[in-house]
Amino acid sequence: MSIFPKKNFFLVFDSLLPSKHLIKFRKFVFFEPFMGNDIANRGRLSHYGSTERKEFVKALKKIRSETELLLEDVEAYHIYMAVKQTQKVPGDIAEVGVYKGGSAKIICAVKGEKSLHLFDTFEGLPKVDDIDMVWPFYEGKFAASFDSVKEYLKNDHNVFFYKGVFPDTSGPVQEKTFSMVNLDVDTYESTKKCLEFFYNRMSAGGILLSHDYITTPGVKKAFDDFFDGKSEPVLETAGSQCLVVKV
Ligand SMILES: C[S@@+](CC[C@H](N)C(=O)[O-])C[C@H]1O[C@@H](n2cnc3c(N)ncnc32)[C@H](O)[C@@H]1O
Repeated sequence: MSIFPKKNFFLVFDSLLPSKHLIKFRKFVFFEPFMGNDIANRGRLSHYGSTERKEFVKALKKIRSETELLLEDVEAYHIYMAVKQTQKVPGDIAEVGVYKGGSAKIICAVKGEKSLHLFDTFEGLPKVDDIDMVWPFYEGKFAASFDSVKEYLKNDHNVFFYKGVFPDTSGPVQEKTFSMVNLDVDTYESTKKCLEFFYNRMSAGGILLSHDYITTPGVKKAFDDFFDGKSEPVLETAGSQCLVVKV
């Protein structure tokens, strides 16, 4: 029998260096400088040892250094994995709510040769109703330069831009089907219009993700009303998103 059993070693170690301090120590001394996790400093992605997560963390760190991304780490990871895991599902990818192209770039990091259709006014939120006023939202908030976003994504293949208020700009994709759709439009009216357009065009197994499900009442109401009576459950995720898999 060992005079220094493992269990006792860890007990002594734990009492000398409680795990909450150890986590901080690991973060600042090891993981943060070398592996770049916890980039947003909130919505921290844990269990980052796998090759897949390391690749994601590397891509996310680069994207955060290049543009402003309005997502927590875990939210960005949900988008990344949804795109990756729907490679086998027939259809294109779409995003409504592009802003400066950060979330689109995450999609590009993992979409392969799939087509990505990007919709935004690039002049900010089109219309804000009373239900959306919980946040300091206003018409024109999140305006971004269309040319800069096109420039930012110019080396990514099969990426198509549609400038203007969705769904007025949806004409060219009326006949398409979709394997993954990322919504980040902040308001009730825009979310409702997006669901009405995309739901029937989603392939079975396709994933519909939306930001701000738990943070903005308009987005939540649009989802809850739309999926009331439909078979798909609306899954509230970590972070503020919701996720639906089309049946
Ligand atoms: C919060 S920003 C998107 C952030 C971006 N996805 C990111 O992660 O960095 C919301 C965007 O939705 C766009 N938007 C909202 N409603 C829209 C609509 N009906 N048609 C087109 N764009 C819309 C706004 O112009 C704005 O750029």
